[in-house]
Amino acid sequence: MDRIRILGGQPLMGRIAISGAKNAALPLMTAALASDEPLVLENLPRLTDVRTLARLLSELGVETALEELPRAGDGSGGDRLTLNAANITSTTASYELVSKMRASFWVLGPLVARFGEAKVSLPGGCAIGARPVDLYIKGLEKMGCEIELDEGYVIARAPKGGLQGAVIRSPLVSVGATHTLMMAAALANGVTTLENAAREPEVADLAECLNAMGAKIEGAGTSSIRIEGVKKLHGTTHKVLPDRIETGSYAMAAAMTGGEVTLTGTRPDTIEAALTVMRAAGVEALVKGDEITVRRNGSRLQAVDVVTQVYPGFPTDLQAQFMTLMTCAEGEAEITETIFENRFMHVQELARFGANISLHGDKAIVHGVEKLKGAPVMASDLRASAALVIAGLAAEGETIINRVYHLDRGFERIEDKLGRCGARIERLK
Ligand code: UD1
Repeated sequence: MDRIRILGGQPLMGRIAISGAKNAALPLMTAALASDEPLVLENLPRLTDVRTLARLLSELGVETALEELPRAGDGSGGDRLTLNAANITSTTASYELVSKMRASFWVLGPLVARFGEAKVSLPGGCAIGARPVDLYIKGLEKMGCEIELDEGYVIARAPKGGLQGAVIRSPLVSVGATHTLMMAAALANGVTTLENAAREPEVADLAECLNAMGAKIEGAGTSSIRIEGVKKLHGTTHKVLPDRIETGSYAMAAAMTGGEVTLTGTRPDTIEAALTVMRAAGVEALVKGDEITVRRNGSRLQAVDVVTQVYPGFPTDLQAQFMTLMTCAEGEAEITETIFENRFMHVQELARFGANISLHGDKAIVHGVEKLKGAPVMASDLRASAALVIAGLAAEGETIINRVYHLDRGFERIEDKLGRCGARIERLK
């Protein structure tokens, strides 16, 4: 298993090109199932999650052609993936692949909408809480689906004549359920409204792609989405939205090491909440077009409290990284996690660097220390791994991060991107 070795203490200086968003790429890939014409995705990040989903789609009979395009000198660019779901051979998504990654479950929506039935294993993915699928099931039932749970599989059957439009009000905001129900509704009979829908930019990106395929979706990006079902969707080419979580992670790495880094090719408007909190902590963040320059001028960061929220609030996917930033801030920061109940696994690993954090239910109290010291640590989930990298970059001495495969699921060439900015980081095979 690969490990990452970091010699910390070097301020990051330079430019980092932001890749396409993993959390947009995955739902976009599942959208290919909704049409019998090719969907071409550009600016695709090179990640194991993308490959895992591509494998699952090819198991279903989707023809997948991945072009691994060379990155430009500054590291910008992405891959191109053509997905052709003209000849689907199966509507069953196996445990073996779905259990690797929760987003694979989302094939349920387009499969049942286009083929009238789907059998999809209950999901796995990062171990960050229970993560049930009740909202997906209730939503599909409202559209007339019969749902059966059998040996770890969800079996969905549409009524004769296809799914029916419905008013679906979700008791809580779910990104994945919004993606899934939006794709299902795109091919249903009549109008569906999703109330209390997720407003994440990735939902808006998926809607933009579906509309380019002929869907009639309005309001994506707000909490009320109206979808007028159409008979058929056609092919299109779509460029994946830049990754706001990658952007925020590198912004925090720059702030933590006390350097100056310009993040290029991003969408600053999608990361407002995190920039606001970072500025309150004393980080300079200058936005110009599609670039953000992040700088800390040597003075110590100040502790700031944070509560994770659904978009446009502070993202749970940056909670671990922000906690790392607070480990060396002056004062005491209270970090409240409201989205996932078990997303503090990084706390014990950060303690290995000398961080002083106490846990109280859904709150972590971070008492700032003068500095961190390098340590051998273990990545527990995708975003927590990024937090450990950030800690290692700022810590004195050597850090070894084990279980790097978590990082490779969601961060493209992290050691290259950081290495370009002067980080002493290498992958040990
Ligand atoms: C997506 C993101 C993930 C991010 C999360 C929240 C992708 C690939 N993943 O995950 O990175 O951390 O949004 O921003 O885009 N819930 C239920 N019942 C359901 C569905 C969800 O109770 O049927 C709960 C979950 O347990 C969780 C909360 O709702 O507590 C939010 O989860 P959700 O928004 O669905 O997350 P994902 O779509 O899985």
